[in-house]
Amino acid sequence: MAEKPWDGRFSQKTERVVESFTSSINVDKRLYSHDIAGSIAHCRMLAEASIITKKESAELVQGLLKIKKDIESGRFKYTDSLEDIHMHIEARLAADIGKVALKLHTARSRNDQVALDIRMYMRQETLAVIDRLTDLREILLSLAGNHTGTIMAGYTHLQKAQPVLFAHHLMAYYEMFSRDTERMRDCLKRIDVMPLGSAALAGTTYPIDREYVSGLLDFPKVSANSIDSVSDRDFIIEFLASASICMVHFSRMSEELVLWSSYEFNYIELPDAFATGSSIMPQKKNPDIPELTRGKSGRVFGSLIALLTIMKSLPLSYNRDMQEDKQPVFDAVDTLKACIEVYIKMLPNLKINKEKMLHGASSGFLNATDMADYLVTKGMAFRDAHACVGKAVSYAIGKEKELHELTLEELRFFSPLFSQDLFELLNPARMIERRKSFGGTAPENVLRAIKKGKKDIGRERKK
Ligand code: ARG
Repeated sequence: MAEKPWDGRFSQKTERVVESFTSSINVDKRLYSHDIAGSIAHCRMLAEASIITKKESAELVQGLLKIKKDIESGRFKYTDSLEDIHMHIEARLAADIGKVALKLHTARSRNDQVALDIRMYMRQETLAVIDRLTDLREILLSLAGNHTGTIMAGYTHLQKAQPVLFAHHLMAYYEMFSRDTERMRDCLKRIDVMPLGSAALAGTTYPIDREYVSGLLDFPKVSANSIDSVSDRDFIIEFLASASICMVHFSRMSEELVLWSSYEFNYIELPDAFATGSSIMPQKKNPDIPELTRGKSGRVFGSLIALLTIMKSLPLSYNRDMQEDKQPVFDAVDTLKACIEVYIKMLPNLKINKEKMLHGASSGFLNATDMADYLVTKGMAFRDAHACVGKAVSYAIGKEKELHELTLEELRFFSPLFSQDLFELLNPARMIERRKSFGGTAPENVLRAIKKGKKDIGRERKK
């Protein structure tokens, strides 16, 4: 075999610097198991189509399986002079089993081979992400289930707005991660398409059977256009977009955990095992996990931008630029999975300061809307009621009192419609209980949402 499988027409040796510049082996060696599985399916098909003999195919398969073992036991040697994982495996096969190895690459190209490998990798990882996101959603459901009586201040503009159940707040994240799971499932439809047999770009002259390969590798669909098959990386971009949105959700949750664990809020305490101290300030307990998660979202967005930029303006079909897809996608997959993993471990161990949360919901005029709604039930138009309560709030601020601490007499100064039955409406539990509109924070709604979530997950797990 020539030193490089493609150097037949070359008369000069490759420059060292070119070898290291063009090599992707350090990155794409991760694809080895998919590469070998793809090659095995390919040689089975070659034999089935009588392009090689059954005996040759069996020798190739055996050789490939041995290489897999060698890689997994750490005996495999990598070198920059062999560019990528595909070349490494092929060269090693030739060294191990001799001439018959030279038949493996019949009717395929590295262009469709790498497209197959990355699709198999993406399929495996997307399924893993879906699986762990489902576990995370389950944890959110059970956490919410424990807090259907825990009251907190709900915020808009980071200003106290109206009281809500902590469970309702948690269920908001459940909804976000459910959409993320759905997006991943949708991505999977575009990932799960079999490109092998497109060869370099135009298909091949051999009588190959692409459906057969597809069946062996468990793909529901064969790619339709050979040019598109070797140039398409949309499925990676789509995954990275979904991963980025998911990281936005992690980042928002992280931001809240950072805030809530601060001395000023003190709504939650992070488990000691998930925080660190300061090397100079002995009193510190820092929320590193949420902070790092918030920070790592930037890496995943970066991967998305990298892929979009790599693919933008590339002429059809394959271009070597596309080799740069792997590092960002591997990094994004690792980062997303690590964030899901650490949250799965951390969330059930959060300490929730229920009293602090309730206290936060009991002051700061969170009952102003309910007071205005009360006036509406007594016949006032909402805008007028809004203005009237606004004046009462301003008065109460001057008196350093909450709305419910004003006397009926004081309130009647703002409207004669106020009477004693107002006061029982102004406490947080009652305010929450009355928000029964679909999707609102009333306990019965939240309990129903939790129940539905459990049912949905049960159904998803069976798929
Ligand atoms: N290492 C290459 C990649 O990852 C494999 C395909 C190379 N194809 C080629 N025509 N040079 O994209």
